[in-house]
Amino acid sequence: MLELNHFYNMDCMDGMKRFPEKYFELAIVDPPYFDGPNKRGYYGKKINTLNIRRVDYPKIQSWDLPTEKYFEELVRVSKNQIVWGCNYFHHQFGPGRIVWDKCNGESSFSDCEIAYCSLHDSVRLFRYMWNGMMQGKSISEGWIQQGNKQKNEVRIHPCQKPIALYDWILTTYAKPGWKILDTHVGSASSLISCFNNGFDYVGFEIDPVIYQLASDRVETMMAQQSFFRRNAF
Ligand SMILES: C[S@@+](CC[C@H](N)C(=O)[O-])C[C@H]1O[C@@H](n2cnc3c(N)ncnc32)[C@H](O)[C@@H]1O
Repeated sequence: MLELNHFYNMDCMDGMKRFPEKYFELAIVDPPYFDGPNKRGYYGKKINTLNIRRVDYPKIQSWDLPTEKYFEELVRVSKNQIVWGCNYFHHQFGPGRIVWDKCNGESSFSDCEIAYCSLHDSVRLFRYMWNGMMQGKSISEGWIQQGNKQKNEVRIHPCQKPIALYDWILTTYAKPGWKILDTHVGSASSLISCFNNGFDYVGFEIDPVIYQLASDRVETMMAQQSFFRRNAF
C-alpha cells in the first residue's frame, strides 16, 4: 500500500490499485473533461489577461477522460465520492449535487461548476467568487474582496479550484479522522485544504510539470501554515 499524506506523480489508475476496498472515507475528485491545454490552445492569451502567473508547459500531457473503469475503481477504494464536472461524463451518477457559483459576472467562463455528491440526494450551493483578480466571498454573502491581488491565490493551473471550496467541502461533509483521496490533484488546492483542516490525504497527478508546480505550492503553503501554528497565541 502507498503511504498516507503523500502526493504521488503517477497515474491514478495505478495508484488506486495500491489501496484496499473502501480505504478512503471520501474521494474528492476533479477528472479532466477535455483533453488538455495543448489541444485546446488554452495557455497564452486567456491566462495573461486574467493576470494569472504564466507558466511554460511545453511538455504537458494531453489528458484522458475518465473511463467506466476509473469510476469502478474510485467506488472500490472510497466510501463516499464528490466528483467535479459530473455533467460532462457519461457515467450514471446518483441524484446529489453540489453547485459552486463562481459569481463571475459577465465572464466567458462557466457561471457554475457542478459536482456529484454521494453524501446526499439534494442540491447544495456554495458561492465563492473566482474571476481573475476577483476572488473571495460574493456580495450575496455580505462582503467581497475585490482586486486585492495581495490576498489572492496565485493560479498555477488552468482548472485550479480555490482552497476555500475544498475548505467548505471538508467542513461541511467530512468527519474528523476521515481519509481523503484526490485522484487528479492539479494545483493541489485539495491537499492544502486537507493539511489546513487536519485530514489525512493521498493525491495523484500524472503530469510531471504540473506535479512539480503543485508540490512547490504545497510545500510553501504548508510551511506558512506551520509557521502560523507555531506562532499562534
Ligand atoms: C481538472 S484538473 C484538476 C484541477 C484541480 N482540482 C485543481 O484545483 O487544481 C485535472 C488534472 O488531472 C491530471 N490527470 C489527468 N489524467 C490523470 C490520471 N490518469 N491520473 C492522475 N492525474 C491525471 C491532469 O494533468 C490535470 O492536472
